[in-house]
Amino acid sequence: MAATTAHMPLSVRIAPVTSFQGWRAEARRLLARGVPPERVEWDDGSGQLALGPGAAPAAADAAADDAQVAAEAPVAAEAPVAALAPAHGGSTRVPRAFLETARRVACHRDAGRWALLYRLLWRLRQEGSALWEVSGDPDVHRARALEAAVRRDVHQMTAFVRFARLEEDGVERWVAWYRTDHHIVELAAPFFVERFRSMRWSILGPEVSLHWDGETLGLGPGVPGRDAPRSDEMAALWRAYYRATFNPARLRVKAMVAELPVRRWAALPEATEIAELVRGAPARADQMRTPAPRVLPVLQLPDDRSLVALREAARGCQGCDIHRNATRTAFGEGPSDARLVLVGEQPGDQEDLAGRPFVGPAGKVLDGVLTEVGLSRQSIWVTNAVKHFKWEPRGKKRIHSRPSQREIEMCKGWLLGELEALRPEAVVCLGASAAQALFGKTFRLTRARGRVFHTSWAPISLATYHPSAVLRADSEAHAADVRAALRDDLARVAELLGSARRVTG
Ligand code: URA
Repeated sequence: MAATTAHMPLSVRIAPVTSFQGWRAEARRLLARGVPPERVEWDDGSGQLALGPGAAPAAADAAADDAQVAAEAPVAAEAPVAALAPAHGGSTRVPRAFLETARRVACHRDAGRWALLYRLLWRLRQEGSALWEVSGDPDVHRARALEAAVRRDVHQMTAFVRFARLEEDGVERWVAWYRTDHHIVELAAPFFVERFRSMRWSILGPEVSLHWDGETLGLGPGVPGRDAPRSDEMAALWRAYYRATFNPARLRVKAMVAELPVRRWAALPEATEIAELVRGAPARADQMRTPAPRVLPVLQLPDDRSLVALREAARGCQGCDIHRNATRTAFGEGPSDARLVLVGEQPGDQEDLAGRPFVGPAGKVLDGVLTEVGLSRQSIWVTNAVKHFKWEPRGKKRIHSRPSQREIEMCKGWLLGELEALRPEAVVCLGASAAQALFGKTFRLTRARGRVFHTSWAPISLATYHPSAVLRADSEAHAADVRAALRDDLARVAELLGSARRVTG
């Protein structure tokens, strides 16, 4: 039976809708009753009402209207079309792509978004799914433009949030304040959880705040910008990072401003560097074409060989060229009475920003395996053969670049200092670079992986796969094999440490 509107009030006023789910529930009810878009007054809670085109002045009483609302119907969704609601005599099927766009449009600040989405929904039902492909249609075009603005806002949030490191009662928390253009905080949240899973962080904003405690994500109330945390240390790091990664020979001012919009500069500590770097770029680019005479650097180990003194001295290490493009030194960390030391190759992208070893994706693999074999990371000293991140730019990414033998040799002073101070019972080298740093250039992981040696560093010394070999494996089966070998080797070390404890104490 066709829907009829003859007995309906002139317009239908909806209680404020503030979420996609809220809009969807209302849209289902309206569709089920056959209410055309021009009769609906949408309220997005911002105080601005949005009317469908040609709508009559509000005449309906919302409460009376609600009484007429039909019961909500379940959604049956399947690609490439999704059923949104049963209308009179059947379900309303809309392209899944429309619903995906609608989810993002719902995050836009435009007060007319709910009306636009309902109008599109209505028209898709009347005119068929093909409407969604007509990009010249003004409604389709507008929805796509709003979606693009939301996507851009999410992208900018992922690129421009700047954390400050705070410490409360010895617990580290990374806190940022960021103002989004649209309501996109929840859309962007998975990016931050994925990227900074092992850290505790909060992203505060004027309307809503996001909090991650290492396991759960929470939403909290907004915080005014004047209460935003500041950290001069982090600001200095961002400036150093920007200076280090600025390539004067590849400067394109237009592209740079498109990437780093001027209206965001106030919130970016590194923006203070831009003017000077741009001014000095031509001269520096000339200089880069004339290679400077090479001066061999030396490693400056302090006289005091305590872990605290070593860490402090390593912060300013310029023993090789890697420090030039690195953000922070990722010195080893763990308890000073650790019985086990794990040695990786060098910090990665996330370790470089955090100044801590194994906090990125390889660290997640490592943490998972340690838990499986009953070893607690809190009781282990975790470090790397090289303390700075060596990388090459690829597009916008920083890609790991293997340290040279000379760089590993140069950095070895820090590693030996750590081992001397710790005198551990077991040392496990993760991957070939770490193994060759400690056991010599001729050591082959393929031949000696998992074998226990007595070395001058520790009575139990062994080399195994690097956790990132699990991530780089070319198939799931290969990844599972590498992970199982890594787990077996660490389980063996745990067992040997267990028996040592039974014998010695
Ligand atoms: N890979 C390493 O070898 N070390 C880290 O700290 C992170 C990734």
